[in-house]
Amino acid sequence: MSKPQILMSPPDTFTVSYAINPWMKEGAVNWDLAQRQWESLYKAITEQAGAEVKLMPAVEGLPDLVFTANAAFVYQDTAIIAHYKHVERQGEEPHCQTWFKENGYRVVTLPQGIYFEGAGDALIWNGRVFAGYKTRTDILSHQVITQETSLPVLSMELIDPRFYHIDVCICPLDRDYFIYYPGAFDEYGLRVIEANIPQNRLIPVTAEEAGLFACNAVNINDTVIFNKGSDRLAKVLSDRRFKVIQLDMSEFLKSGGSTKCLTLRVA
Ligand code: ARG
Repeated sequence: MSKPQILMSPPDTFTVSYAINPWMKEGAVNWDLAQRQWESLYKAITEQAGAEVKLMPAVEGLPDLVFTANAAFVYQDTAIIAHYKHVERQGEEPHCQTWFKENGYRVVTLPQGIYFEGAGDALIWNGRVFAGYKTRTDILSHQVITQETSLPVLSMELIDPRFYHIDVCICPLDRDYFIYYPGAFDEYGLRVIEANIPQNRLIPVTAEEAGLFACNAVNINDTVIFNKGSDRLAKVLSDRRFKVIQLDMSEFLKSGGSTKCLTLRVA
């Protein structure tokens, strides 16, 4: 069986030079430390989780290109390319489009004026897409996902500005488990989660864990990789036979992202 493939982009030009989410404080990043933290994630993915990493080159002036989760929503050979809400990130779009074209994907772009931030706002659990909207992604993009992939989409409003992408509020896992932070959703969103996912598969996290980006986890087979500090969650997952790897992602948290944001499953 071929290895899972993960798209990453090296943090060569990573910095915080603008603020488009509540976590971002300009000039706060220790660049050398960020390099080492990104390397540790790369190693955990390739050496411990057994996946293959594809690289998209860094580009000067695009500090957030490192967050490849946003580049596109990928399903089989289709890649729906992001159209960013903030002009600061729109320069990433042609680079993402080129990468997916050159790598043989069927590339889909959004109709004019519809914002969509890729797998940052659309995650597949058991054949259905849990998709966030309002902070970054327009709800209108959700029907494009269905049109292009035939997957049903469950639209969830994100109500807390700190949890501005759905991949910082939920994480679908192997064997149909599902990590989520209840505080990121309204009553309706919680009903959608509870109506779709069996109680014994749901793994809620606390506000403190969510603030440490516990939901922003990379899951490859039975390995789960997330930012350090959520030992309670680590224990819950180990009890369910997951291998947990906790890494220090402090420099990327300063930009509002952690392990999952730095990766995109492309095969
Ligand atoms: N600074 C980036 C932004 O605000 C962080 C993106 C994090 N990505 C994610 N998939 N949650 O756009």
